[in-house]
Amino acid sequence: MQQWYDNAIIYQVYPRSFQDSNNDGLGDLEGLLQRLDYIKKLGVNAIWINPVFTSPQVDNGYDVSNYFNIDPHFGSMATMNALIKRAHELDMHIILDFVLNHTSDQHPWFQDALKSPKSLFRDYYIWEQTKNGQVPNNWGSFFGGSVWAKHPSEKNTYYFHLFDQHMPDLNWANPEVRQAMIEVAKYWVEKGVDGLRLDAFIHIAKANLHQDFPSSEKGAVIAEPMYANLPNVVTYLQEFINELRKINPDLFILGEGASAGPELAALYTRSNRGNALCDGIVSFRNLPKERLADQDALAMKLKLPAKEKLDLAQLPESIVHWQTSLAQTTQPTLYFSNHDMPRMATAYGDSEYLERSLKTLATMQYLQKGVPIIYYGEELGLQNVELERFTAFQDQTVTALKTQLSGREQTAVLHYLSQTHKTPARQPMPWDDTVNQGFSEHEPWLRTATKQVTVAEEEEDPDSLLNFYRQLLHLKQQELFANGEFRLLTAPTGLLVYERYLAGKSALIVTNLTRESVSYSNDDWTNADIIYTVGQVTLADNQWHLAPWSSIVLKQDQLPWL
Ligand code: NOJ
Repeated sequence: MQQWYDNAIIYQVYPRSFQDSNNDGLGDLEGLLQRLDYIKKLGVNAIWINPVFTSPQVDNGYDVSNYFNIDPHFGSMATMNALIKRAHELDMHIILDFVLNHTSDQHPWFQDALKSPKSLFRDYYIWEQTKNGQVPNNWGSFFGGSVWAKHPSEKNTYYFHLFDQHMPDLNWANPEVRQAMIEVAKYWVEKGVDGLRLDAFIHIAKANLHQDFPSSEKGAVIAEPMYANLPNVVTYLQEFINELRKINPDLFILGEGASAGPELAALYTRSNRGNALCDGIVSFRNLPKERLADQDALAMKLKLPAKEKLDLAQLPESIVHWQTSLAQTTQPTLYFSNHDMPRMATAYGDSEYLERSLKTLATMQYLQKGVPIIYYGEELGLQNVELERFTAFQDQTVTALKTQLSGREQTAVLHYLSQTHKTPARQPMPWDDTVNQGFSEHEPWLRTATKQVTVAEEEEDPDSLLNFYRQLLHLKQQELFANGEFRLLTAPTGLLVYERYLAGKSALIVTNLTRESVSYSNDDWTNADIIYTVGQVTLADNQWHLAPWSSIVLKQDQLPWL
């Protein structure tokens, strides 16, 4: 049976940066509500909203202190209700970001658990005792340092946190925790949300804590095999999702499996009990990347993440791998970036052919079989903004760098991090040329001097990226591009070519992802109609000649091999 999400086209909104309605410098739900028509016009039918529950905002809402309410920064439950209602009137679906691996340390469960080993909530979290003041094991947190933090008053007692120390991990081995999280999720499903994005779900099961992770390094080390993708993840997940689907069988579950490649994504979307696992997976491994040859020496010395670009040699195989691994269960998700990564234009755009390269990349990516996820502002070609202060990154490891560096080094590192870090990709949406680009009358939470292209400017220009995205996403809604079969064709490196076909109709997508001009011929397609081209494409001697970063999309009312 077809579900609404088989044809989903998702727009990701980072709510603190989308639209500020009460002029406090932070975006909010009322602002998002006011902009729903803009989102609808793009051609999407679902909105994924990053967390808006009550939170001390240590990690921008991924540290939840009350799952049953909206953080006052973002508005009220009444506004959330209105947002869901209006989105539904516009035939759009709401997907909430649901944080289930950890809570905030301000959550009443954790506050109670801290009080005494006998607290009824003690076993909601993961505790260890040691004898000599040493941490229980050498496992490292994704946010730096050990996964263990000291209990504030009980000697030699530690709690487990995979992310910030103010975000203690829940103990999913405890059935009470599993039931409590089901109750929280039910509340939102009953309220009418259409989907949940399960944050960090691959970490809900942990290995035996009484062991170090083998490593030659001293101190804490990232130990994924100890806390990622363990077999109980599927067990817990299945129970959780089963209960929710009893309320809404159409509930869309988008799992965040940071380290999942195609096989794990298939595992998390497969089920032997009907439709009881995820419907889509987002991960950091969706695109093959290679390190840029000219790495910054200082960045390397400081062990900052390397600059990367698309690995064109690996791209065809990667695409086929994702497409075939998920073919029996669901559809791949198609995206370039999100709030945890540098922006698409910064990471993959070609500065010499910026607009054209972004149009061709979007063509290559979103016309594949799968569910597009567009990160807000991508449709404008937004780039990472330049942040001029270390504290602006809101990341302790970045703040700590400053003291180690000379003045000149600081400038270089700030510039480098502005290209590679996640925070400069979370900038306020630039709507127009009024104060703070129409985002807020108050200074925005993320201060930046970077001049950005605005929605208003792009509205005016028929060839703008914004208007291109609108056309592309409307094309994507057609059955052929939503549900048609996918077939990759052999082509030289840098030229990505594939077909889609369905019920006697087919399309050919040819994208040149390089700065070189290339030619391509395919006898099955010489008499086909052009849907659109990007850049310069000419036909001569039965060959398509594609200038740098150009692309062409063709269609015909027959299958290519007939
Ligand atoms: C993944 C989220 O996308 C990221 O922003 C967050 O910091 C971690 N999970 C922890 O919740």
